[in-house]
Amino acid sequence: MSVVPTDFSVLSEDFAAAPYRYFAQLREQAPVHYEPAIDSYFVSRHEDVKRVLTDHELFTTETLQVRAEPVMRGPVLAQMTGAEHTAKRRIVVRAFTGSALQDQIRVIHANAAELMAPFLPLGRVDLVNDFGKPFGMHVTLDVLGLDRKDWQQLAAWHNGVVEFVTGLNLTPERRRHCIDRAERLEAYLLPVIEQRRRNPGDDLISQLCTAEFDGVAMSDREVTALIINVLVASTEPADKTLALLFKHLIDHPEQMAQVRRDPDLLGAAIAETLRYTPPVQLIPRQAEKDAVFAGTTVPAGATVFCMIGAANRDPDAFTAPDTFDIHRPDLGSARSFTAAAQHLAFGTGLHQCVGAAFARAELETAAEMLLPLLDQVRYSPGFRYQEAGLYTRGPVALSLDFTPVR
Ligand code: HEM
Repeated sequence: MSVVPTDFSVLSEDFAAAPYRYFAQLREQAPVHYEPAIDSYFVSRHEDVKRVLTDHELFTTETLQVRAEPVMRGPVLAQMTGAEHTAKRRIVVRAFTGSALQDQIRVIHANAAELMAPFLPLGRVDLVNDFGKPFGMHVTLDVLGLDRKDWQQLAAWHNGVVEFVTGLNLTPERRRHCIDRAERLEAYLLPVIEQRRRNPGDDLISQLCTAEFDGVAMSDREVTALIINVLVASTEPADKTLALLFKHLIDHPEQMAQVRRDPDLLGAAIAETLRYTPPVQLIPRQAEKDAVFAGTTVPAGATVFCMIGAANRDPDAFTAPDTFDIHRPDLGSARSFTAAAQHLAFGTGLHQCVGAAFARAELETAAEMLLPLLDQVRYSPGFRYQEAGLYTRGPVALSLDFTPVR
């Protein structure tokens, strides 16, 4: 194994172009990497990431006050603790599981079919930009009870919020730009909140508006923050995971054939995609006291980034971690979308993703619909695969050819 270069930086173009090339070296030689330009520590071993995400006394989400709150326009779920966190998390969970989820699956299917229809006679689709992005947005807007016809405008504002939360070293100009986008999104949401308070429906915004916590309803600011929280958390990983699933299956034709023959394998294929190439690559925390990892001290007050992509490829957690294998016994695909998951793509501990079951249903429904339609699916001639993103990461595009459907 080569040595981590002395001038190694997670902020370098080299790392951004192919982070997976460095993960083994980081785990072995620099399991706690310090990045002076942003005064932050990066942990890469599965065991250490799990410790950071589950030791809630030592590692808190305090850092989100500056990393997220300015664009969420209020405190997000991941910042909360104790009874407040439990109560508000329950409201969101209820909207994305059980009988609510069953109703949503029908809508998700209709959404997917409608978005794919224009591309079927062409025999070509960019699975990220033509399908995945509008699909992820439509599905989330439906659950929230926002108007799908506004999706492009909402996506533009949402991009500003995402840039702020995921940017590691933004210039003051970019920060201002992002906050401006977030303010516009807030201005769009406030009249909707007012209307749902007067006339609630059965959407998530209505539930947030009418729910009471300790006998007190949530303020407009709290509802706004939760809406933006769900909008971003649900939309950002959706197109990335779907495109990565198709890429891995195209790159492994025998596993593609197995999934086509037995769509019940899709759950395992999605879970393995999330392990192998998690769309959320970094999760930040703040060390409340000095913390020691493998002989390195992370000082109290420091920001710690958990490197999920590196942890999910740790040979101490998974056998042959760099191999994509939907049948791997150590994945435990039945528990991959639960709190007991061995992969860390949904995080773990108190703040583990509330949307895991919904994400599975959304991706399974789309893939189950797409696979039979995309006969002979392959990369379009001349297509060059490229990924982007340090915090969230996924394909920039995925141009696919298939047998046209007349
Ligand atoms: C493949 C899809 C998804 C991935 C990979 C993913 C990933 C994650 C991760 C890594 C976290 C933990 C953040 C932390 O510990 O600070 C998280 C939290 C969260 N996710 Fe997801 N997510 C996905 C889909 C969704 C969906 C569909 C929703 C819609 C409700 C959602 C809503 C949330 C919320 C609200 C939180 C904060 C939970 C809390 O702090 O209690 N996510 N997600």
